[in-house]
Amino acid sequence: MSKTVRVERDGELALIVVHNPPVNTITADVRAGLRDAVSTVRADGGVRGVILLCEGSTFFSGADIGEFSGPPREAEYRALFNSIEAMDLPVVAAMHGTVMGGGLEIALACHYRIAAPATRFALPEVTLGIIPGAGGTQRLPRLIGAEKALEFILSAKPVGAPQAVEMGFLDAVVDGDLRAVAIRYTRELLSSGQGPRRTGDKTVDPATAGPEMFERMTAQARKQYPNRNAGLVAVDAVRKAAQSTFAEGLEYETARVNECKTTDESRGAVHVFFAERDSRRVPGLPEDARPIAVHSAGVIGAGTMGGGIAICFANAGIPVTLIDASAAGLERGVAGIERIYQSMVDRGRLTAADKAQRLSLIRTSLDYEALRDADVIIEAVFEDLELKREIFGKLDKYAKAGAILATNTSTLDIAKIAEVTTRPGDVIGMHFFSPANVMPLLEVVRTDRTSASAIKTVMELAKPLRKTPVLATVCYGFIGNRMMEGYAREAERMVLEGATPRQIDTALEEWGMAMGILAVFDMAGIDVGVNVHKANASRYPPDPAYYQADFALAEAGRLGQKSGKGYYRYEPGNRARIDDPEAIEILRRRARDLAVPQRTHSTTEIQERCLYPLLNEGFRVLGEGVAVRAADIDVVWTSGYGFPRYRGGPMFYAETIGLATLLDGMRRYGEMFGPMHWEPAPLLVELVGRGISVADWERERHSRQAAA
Ligand SMILES: NC(=O)c1ccc[n+]([C@@H]2O[C@H](COP(=O)([O-])OP(=O)(O)OC[C@H]3O[C@@H](n4cnc5c(N)ncnc54)[C@H](O)[C@@H]3O)[C@@H](O)[C@H]2O)c1
Repeated sequence: MSKTVRVERDGELALIVVHNPPVNTITADVRAGLRDAVSTVRADGGVRGVILLCEGSTFFSGADIGEFSGPPREAEYRALFNSIEAMDLPVVAAMHGTVMGGGLEIALACHYRIAAPATRFALPEVTLGIIPGAGGTQRLPRLIGAEKALEFILSAKPVGAPQAVEMGFLDAVVDGDLRAVAIRYTRELLSSGQGPRRTGDKTVDPATAGPEMFERMTAQARKQYPNRNAGLVAVDAVRKAAQSTFAEGLEYETARVNECKTTDESRGAVHVFFAERDSRRVPGLPEDARPIAVHSAGVIGAGTMGGGIAICFANAGIPVTLIDASAAGLERGVAGIERIYQSMVDRGRLTAADKAQRLSLIRTSLDYEALRDADVIIEAVFEDLELKREIFGKLDKYAKAGAILATNTSTLDIAKIAEVTTRPGDVIGMHFFSPANVMPLLEVVRTDRTSASAIKTVMELAKPLRKTPVLATVCYGFIGNRMMEGYAREAERMVLEGATPRQIDTALEEWGMAMGILAVFDMAGIDVGVNVHKANASRYPPDPAYYQADFALAEAGRLGQKSGKGYYRYEPGNRARIDDPEAIEILRRRARDLAVPQRTHSTTEIQERCLYPLLNEGFRVLGEGVAVRAADIDVVWTSGYGFPRYRGGPMFYAETIGLATLLDGMRRYGEMFGPMHWEPAPLLVELVGRGISVADWERERHSRQAAA
């Protein structure tokens, strides 16, 4: 007897009912249960029709990604889905929730498909570096044609139920109690004499599968998924569906998906998937420390970040009080929040009623009294230590006992902020990224004195706020910005050496970064960086060229997009980067003043000089215990800094190129440019010397900690 699958009878109908919370993943137990259920139904001479449905929040959400790294399961999936399709009674899939990957593929093997109105469907496999491997590339084109099938597979995006009907893989959108409706629907099929309708018996409509179409889709896959292979494999698999028998097509699909699973592209993307899922769990915190429940919140500073953070709370249904120094500040802040919600309404992402409801959760005040009830208070005023200390002194007076007192600082020492309070255990960093209502990353920063309960509270709070939390200890730049230092430094150094901004950004984007770093600076404001450099000059190395590209441009009034010029030039109202000889001349002049030797840069040199210091710093961050585990560092960079997921994040990528390659690279550039910026991280040297992997080292550390 399966724990997750049971067969029920309703008159002449058999219902195969699945219950595998939370999201009905098609685990090994579910597959075994489905196999048994098919046999039970087959053996029962009284059954005339079959319904497949799931209890809980959704129909099958997908295959078990945890099995990716184990032995291939495709043959098992294929046999199971074929046995469902082969039944000589009509089989109806009755769906709700979010039906993805294997969940949709099992439905395609059923004979009829109906769904509740809010159901969403997706085949997101290519974003995990694989293709739909449980019959999806063979059945979907037989149902809706090769072109539409490929568009859907390559888009990897969900579609709603009405669109699924239009595309042709869903028979009907049904309202009301799904089980009752499915029973009625199946009885109607039977009474009108409808029998099994096997997708595998169909052929792909040749009009949808011409050579020109496949060429177009190949070009699209290359453009949409540069540096990656899975999109191209999907094109091959769908072409195969159009050109061979169903059985041959399935065999081909299996072979190709298994080949996909061994690529760095897939291993990297799957690694990030699990790293994000696990980042919330912090090993080593005392069991008895409990998170507090967060029913209301406060935000101090109604600027760019404060407004975005308030939106996160309102979206989560948590009332939030926004405080600023002046009524004008509050007004500006609320107007900004209104604008963000209105643009969501305009784009159809939110109804006007939802907007009103969310805005009603955001209250404003100039008085700290209004924070008395808040369970969590986040400070997001100007980046000024004395100002923040003054505010935390006030919070200490007004906040209720046990409230979490958080700061959104990017660069300041949180321990120095905490020390002005009588409750440093409750003080913690919550480092959001801009725009705070959009960016998924939340760096949670603990001081030596932050309590385990405060850490747990914030890691838990990330869930309703829809953030991916990563824990860091206090240090300059925490995890993300600290690793940014060398990456940005080399980009700026190379434009002084004669590379153009376009050359640098193109090399980084071709490698896979979402946006070249110099274009990022233009977007964020070059003066923002310059202010940070000025405030931290005392900690910077004795390098006269350090961040001088930023300084030179800012001094010439080139502050980035907001002033229409920075590393590039911009037309009003347009973010397209235009090469600007004037910027290049300013950079050349600064280079002459500093006597920076000129050289030509290959794409490889640009990529290595930016990436190696970034990866190297990751080994310091890990070795010093700033990050709890290497995978957390990967999450920070993939979810906060546009590092390509298919490269798995910096630490994963370092292992794909080989730690020895990284170490050699650091030493090679150190010989070329001097050791100041090219000192290999002690942990990197250790791992290469001992010939062990990051995972080996983490295991060792874990056993050491367990023994202590
Ligand atoms: N902008 C970013 O990209 C970003 C990203 C992460 C973290 N941060 C950090 O977030 C914080 C805020 O940055 P921002 O970009 O939102 O700044 P901002 O200038 O847009 O907003 C700051 C707000 O604080 C208000 N304020 C100033 N003094 C105050 C006081 N005494 N009491 C109450 N309110 C006061 C100002 O009126 C203003 O509305 C800074 O610590 C910054 O380092 C910024």
